[in-house]
Amino acid sequence: QEHRMKKILILNGPNLNLLGTREPAQYGYTTLPDVEAFCKAHGEKIGYEVECLQSNWEGALIDRIHEAGRQYKAGELLGIVINPGALTHTSIALHDAIKGVDPLPVIECHISNVHAREEFRHHSVIAAAVNGVICGFGIHSYELGIEAVAAIVNANKKG
Ligand code: DQA
Repeated sequence: QEHRMKKILILNGPNLNLLGTREPAQYGYTTLPDVEAFCKAHGEKIGYEVECLQSNWEGALIDRIHEAGRQYKAGELLGIVINPGALTHTSIALHDAIKGVDPLPVIECHISNVHAREEFRHHSVIAAAVNGVICGFGIHSYELGIEAVAAIVNANKKG
């Protein structure tokens, strides 16, 4: 049952289901199912079970975050890595949902370096609600996000 506790949730927001075909110059040619498989493989390698969900619906992401909050309290989940897509720049509701499940560790991640792109991508309304932000490492941003959750979990153990 110790193994069951070591679960990390990967959330992907709007349009990330189009990975592989959507603006490949920006996001690469790897599909979402492949990215999710890499996340699961990476998690397994370092001893974590990885569950993945993508939704184009803000409310579905919010519902899953609330559920994650309950799972965290029950000792069934360690943390979340979320790529909110364009909701990054607009969704106060997602910000509030993440705040609402504090102190559940949440890492915001982006495939592209949003700071090197259009001005409207430079600001995240999510960033102030999460433990940390990773961006610009292509699909490796997700693996780094998993590492970040693991680092928080281990730091909490020591402290
Ligand atoms: C993104 C960056 C966002 O600005 C954009 O709206 C996305 C993807 C990324 O992973 O680089 O949908 O979150």
